[in-house]
Amino acid sequence: MSVLTAKNISVVFGGLKAVEDFSIEISEGELVGLIGPNGAGKTTVFNLLTGVYQPTTGSITLNGQDVTGKKPEQIVSIGAARTFQNIRLFKQMTVLDNVLVADNGSRTYSVASALLRTTKYWKEEKAAREKAMALLSVFGMESLADATAENLPYGKQRKLEIARALATNPTLLLLDEPAAGMNPTETTELMETIALIREKFKVAVLLIEHDMSLVTGICERVIVLNFGNILAQGTPQEVTSNPEVITAYLGE
Ligand SMILES: Nc1ncnc2c1ncn2[C@@H]1O[C@H](COP(=O)(O)OP(=O)(O)OP(=O)(O)O)[C@@H](O)[C@H]1O
Ligand SMILES: [Mg+2]
Repeated sequence: MSVLTAKNISVVFGGLKAVEDFSIEISEGELVGLIGPNGAGKTTVFNLLTGVYQPTTGSITLNGQDVTGKKPEQIVSIGAARTFQNIRLFKQMTVLDNVLVADNGSRTYSVASALLRTTKYWKEEKAAREKAMALLSVFGMESLADATAENLPYGKQRKLEIARALATNPTLLLLDEPAAGMNPTETTELMETIALIREKFKVAVLLIEHDMSLVTGICERVIVLNFGNILAQGTPQEVTSNPEVITAYLGE
């Protein structure tokens, strides 16, 4: 089944067609790469798919629902979660709290219940904590639960951002340059983590990444964007041997 279908979406910024007639279909559990030069429109595609920008043309369907024109928080609740090119964590909060705030949806107790600390409150709070700790353990970060987010090394902040995105129970995870600023060891580790969470959480992944070893290592399919348009798509082997892709991007 298709998790995401976007058809001919476009957006214009001050006369510049940042993304033009972009179409994509992602199946359940698929891992797709989105690559291309700086300014090609990759992050803008994410912003369109997640409701940050409204497309001026086209339509977006997520898990069978038309989400064209929907707000970011609605799109999250329908199953798409993302991370950002520039890490956005609640810096002063603990690692555990960063994950807990994302998982608001699974707690149903009322404000009164929370204030009175009812049984329902404690039950749901305990379950949410257990779930958040289980998520952190997938990333080998349970022992850091009480650490302040901003004190984590860079690679771990990136992982925490992914954990927080997963806390919303997405069927589609959008990762914007998760390996940016990581050293080779951290990148390899991240690659394994992405492969693992895809299996474990049955989540489809759309991955923006400049690190080609990461892209070719884990993506089944790659889309190449250039000047807001799709230049090529296919298997990693197909796109990396495509002369147009080499000229526009890889040969740089
Ligand atoms: N909010 C905005 N207002 C005006 N122009 C924008 C806006 N967002 C993006 N752009 C422009 O749209 C184009 C695509 O930008 P985008 O950030 O999507 O590129 P990218 O492929 O993610 O690049 P990078 O690899 O550097 O992250 C660029 O020319 C950028 O300057
Ligand atoms: Mg970008």
